[in-house]
Amino acid sequence: MSVDVVVVGLGYVGLPLAQAACSAGLSVVGFDVKDALVAGLNAGKSHVDDLSDADIATMLSQGFSATTNSSVLATAAAIVICVPTPLSDEGGPDLGAVLGATRTIASQLQPGQLVILESTTYPGTTDEDVRPLLEANGLVAGKDFSLAFSPERIDPGNPVYGMKNTPKVVGGFTPECTERAANFYARFVDTVVRAKGTREAELAKLIENTYRHVNIALMNELAQFAHLLEVDLWDAIKAASSKPFGFQAFYPGPGVGGHCIPIDPNYLSYRVKTQTGQPFRFIELAQEVNAGMPEYVKHRIQDSLNDAKLALNGAKVLLIGVTYKPNIADERESPVRPLAQALLAGGADVSYHDPFVPEWNVDSEHGHHDGDRVLTSVSDVYEAVATADITVLLQPHKSYDLAQLASASKKLFDTRGLLQGANVERL
Ligand SMILES: NC(=O)c1ccc[n+]([C@@H]2O[C@H](COP(=O)([O-])OP(=O)(O)OC[C@H]3O[C@@H](n4cnc5c(N)ncnc54)[C@H](O)[C@@H]3O)[C@@H](O)[C@H]2O)c1
Repeated sequence: MSVDVVVVGLGYVGLPLAQAACSAGLSVVGFDVKDALVAGLNAGKSHVDDLSDADIATMLSQGFSATTNSSVLATAAAIVICVPTPLSDEGGPDLGAVLGATRTIASQLQPGQLVILESTTYPGTTDEDVRPLLEANGLVAGKDFSLAFSPERIDPGNPVYGMKNTPKVVGGFTPECTERAANFYARFVDTVVRAKGTREAELAKLIENTYRHVNIALMNELAQFAHLLEVDLWDAIKAASSKPFGFQAFYPGPGVGGHCIPIDPNYLSYRVKTQTGQPFRFIELAQEVNAGMPEYVKHRIQDSLNDAKLALNGAKVLLIGVTYKPNIADERESPVRPLAQALLAGGADVSYHDPFVPEWNVDSEHGHHDGDRVLTSVSDVYEAVATADITVLLQPHKSYDLAQLASASKKLFDTRGLLQGANVERL
């Protein structure tokens, strides 16, 4: 085999993986179906937040290249699949990219290769969906080639934990597959954790995300009650956090976003429902509470305007930060989009500021369609807050001087519990 690893899918997950393998001295080729993305990478251009153009240049100097030509797959010792696992229009898993990538790999599969799926998915996918496709041409998993699942744990924008120092969970189709996959990751990850099999490794990832989803929902529901009870929830969470054991702080907010928290638990509840016929009530409840937050925040904004004898209809509402988490450009599934839609539906004059998003399509995160409302970030945020009837802090990017934002605002609704003052109202 002439290449140590081919990474399939060069996005938020695949590209940092390729980078980590390159820096450890492995020979790495990236395979993706998008021509422009591949051409960009080969020209030294990064399209993900965590990697700069300079990082890509370093990777290229270490021998990395990207391609859309699937024949490269036949030359790899290991193949790692990092393609998206979104939801279908009906809200269930959409394994289209995983199955598409697997079919492409199957067409090139060679004896002795190691195939690892990293895409987040329900327990059973590697064994029941991926393995039969790979075995279609006669090679047998665990005998002719190795097969494993290893969940990606990347946290875009996290300055402390990256690929190397985040422990990697690995579960193989056979114990030998587990060992082989573990040895592969050990070449560029500090700690490898062996799970019993592919299903346990698949479920491990869903436990992590469902745990966050449910606990955030608990705080979101509590935020609504704490408001009615006139208790400062943020202060109460701070006090509870002083317990050095048995408690981990989660915080309320305008809703959940990103590629993981709002999506992955659905893979688990779907699997539970289709296999057992029963609803996974915790997940469904968390979904309902978290998805209701943008509408709740809209009501709070409306109430706040009402206190100042203003109607939402015609009020100038400035949204600060539209991405789903601070300090990155990713706006996938951001709860700010349904919030803006609800405010616009109520007649508000909505504007926004985000240093990472110069132009923002309020109606769609998947390209422009006729009739979409597209806004441009206001140029001077500190001037804009002074003229807005209400400013809504949604994402506290570190470039903001929050105290200045608060003092310059007529009224500020803080969904993150970071500010105080006579003109500040917290979620
Ligand atoms: N982004 C995150 O923070 C994160 C964190 C942990 C886990 N994950 C999981 O990792 C997986 C990948 O997510 P991502 O954020 O990297 O997605 P992404 O959309 O950033 O990148 C996926 C890439 O795969 C490519 N692709 C799609 N179909 C392909 C095919 N058939 N063959 C080759 N390439 C193909 C796309 O062109 C794209 O470049 C998902 O399952 C996701 O749930 C993501």
